[in-house]
Amino acid sequence: MKKLLQELKDASLSAISSADSIDVLENLRVKYLGKKGELTAILKQMGTLSEDERPVIGQLANEVREALTSSIDARREELSKKMLEMRLRAEKIDVTMPGKSVTIGKKHPLNTVLDEAMEIFIGMGFTIVDGPEIEYAEYNFTKLNTAEGHPARDRQDTFYFADDDSILLRTQTSPVQARVMETQPLPIRILSPGRVYRKDEVDATHSPMFHQIEGLVVDKGITMGDLKGTLNTLLRKLYGENVVTRFRPHHFPFTEPSCEVDIQCFECGGKGCRMCKGEGWIEILGAGMVHPNVLENCGIDSKVYSGFAFGIGLERITMRRFDISDLRLIFENDVRFLNQF
Ligand code: DAH
Repeated sequence: MKKLLQELKDASLSAISSADSIDVLENLRVKYLGKKGELTAILKQMGTLSEDERPVIGQLANEVREALTSSIDARREELSKKMLEMRLRAEKIDVTMPGKSVTIGKKHPLNTVLDEAMEIFIGMGFTIVDGPEIEYAEYNFTKLNTAEGHPARDRQDTFYFADDDSILLRTQTSPVQARVMETQPLPIRILSPGRVYRKDEVDATHSPMFHQIEGLVVDKGITMGDLKGTLNTLLRKLYGENVVTRFRPHHFPFTEPSCEVDIQCFECGGKGCRMCKGEGWIEILGAGMVHPNVLENCGIDSKVYSGFAFGIGLERITMRRFDISDLRLIFENDVRFLNQF
């Protein structure tokens, strides 16, 4: 047994000193010193020894255990030192190197103006709602008092999907009006911004995709006075307290009466200049009292309820706001341009 213990000691010490990772070391510890390890296996044979031999072998076994334990501890220490050194070498940072500059994005000017407009309307008790960009002609036109055959439904102007012209890319955000009137309880006070599509060639003032902000209020006793008060509030907040507004008669199929709302040119004060193309006024939005047919088409009793609606071109108010002269700049997303706002 003495010999066995000596052999175990020699073999294990050499294995431990060449262990090259903490895992390997741990496996060796289990192999030699564990409950089912080799040292235990040898000690199980103690019963076969004589009374005299037992304490001698017991003493020797303890020495072997201690020698192994301390050698494992020492090797573990060595290995973790070595690993730390390797990690430090691998993760070395040269703090004198110039840093990488971080480029920070900015809010797009369209979003700046949209967020401002939403903020203003939320302050007046409006709720923001969303509507689909792929829409039924029924909602984009028919329910909005724009019957088949109306020139606004022309294939020249509208992106239709189905051959029967029943599905299209919405040409305006106004269909959200019908969707809200059909599904939401009265009274209604909503704002719905989003993309709209028309078959237009790209130039400084046209794009086949642009944005509108639709507004709708329906309640008992809503009048043109409410329309004017609401839109004047918006324009004062957007363009300053001194803005001069004008409500000019117009025609939309879904409102009666209808108007377009202009602001006096702030460049020339109404005299006429390049900015307002000699008009003295700049058109900002379309609006009107919701046509009784539209209310009825959406299941609302037009003898009890009335309402007003409006549609704002987001690009247009953004361009006025930041003095941007070409619509294409807004969509090209050149950061050198966008960083100016
Ligand atoms: N949908 C109209 C357009 O695209 C804009 C508009 C005008 C919306 C009057 C309205 C409205 O809600 O009442 O030209």
